[in-house]
Amino acid sequence: NWSMEDFIDMQIAKIREQVGDRKVLLGLSGGVDSSVVGVLLHKAIGDQLTSIFVDHGLLRKGEAEQVMESLGGKFGLNIIKVDAKERFMDKLAGVSDPEKKRKIIGNEFIRVFDDEATKLKGIDFLAQGTLYTDVIESGTDTAQTIKSHHNVGGLPEDMQFELIEPLNTLFKDEVRELGEKLGMPHELVWRQPFPGPGLGIRVIGEITEEKLQIVRDSDLILREEIAKHGLDKEIWQYFTVLPGIRSVGVMGDGRTYDYTVGIRAVTSIDGMTADFAKIPWDVLQEISVRIVNEVAHVNRVVYDITSKPPATIEWE
Ligand code: XMP
Repeated sequence: NWSMEDFIDMQIAKIREQVGDRKVLLGLSGGVDSSVVGVLLHKAIGDQLTSIFVDHGLLRKGEAEQVMESLGGKFGLNIIKVDAKERFMDKLAGVSDPEKKRKIIGNEFIRVFDDEATKLKGIDFLAQGTLYTDVIESGTDTAQTIKSHHNVGGLPEDMQFELIEPLNTLFKDEVRELGEKLGMPHELVWRQPFPGPGLGIRVIGEITEEKLQIVRDSDLILREEIAKHGLDKEIWQYFTVLPGIRSVGVMGDGRTYDYTVGIRAVTSIDGMTADFAKIPWDVLQEISVRIVNEVAHVNRVVYDITSKPPATIEWE
């Protein structure tokens, strides 16, 4: 009978045999899959693993710090953190089309990763957090082609690496179980899905630092309240968006003209279809009050009550 402990022992033996005394590179995104691969590989080959973590400035509040403290600190992974915020903001300036934004973020991600990877010498392997579902979906032999996984962005054709994909027989829930067996913290293992382009597609239209700040701050409040009310496991994905419209409000004796924040929270099995989450009114009220009081330049909060289809989960 197959157990997660057996799986860990088997994978560690397999990785050690495959890698020998050579070196492995991993792109850490901060998501569950690449984090679990990182911890598993580190357990198997220690400092023969080097990880690159690209901070594109579009992560949620505290996310980059958490990856560095937990994976780099507690688990001791050797992580090169690239602060690429300015590179991304420069490329994104003035761009408001969602697909253009996605393409720019994906391409820049590859460039930054490539720049760092080429500085490293003597790397033979590239590790990826490919899951069984990714293998089925791509329908090809992923061991042969480097998958243009949208979270990693795909890698330059001329990079010659052998792939290591220790999760490619597992489903998401098994990856979470594996993460827990490896002693990884709850927040990392149970992290909700987060798109590769990050907050870049949650600021609707042109991205500015001010708008990112509003999304980051309101998103943190939402996450805190959802966790406080014990709703984090039943709601599949929850986040705030900034549609960029401003509307009239009143505060004290004065009229305000400020931003509207949208709350999106859905229940889903796989993200293909989704229902808006039936969050209790009093919880929504608490969230709304906190966002308006604590986040500057917001005077209105709305709740998205559309299912997928016809709406998508993200607003862009
Ligand atoms: P939609 O908005 O299409 O989202 O209903 C379905 C799931 O996919 C995520 N998503 C993305 N993930 N890159 C990603 O890595 C993207 O460009 C992207 N767009 C949407 C979304 O967060 C949801 O979980």
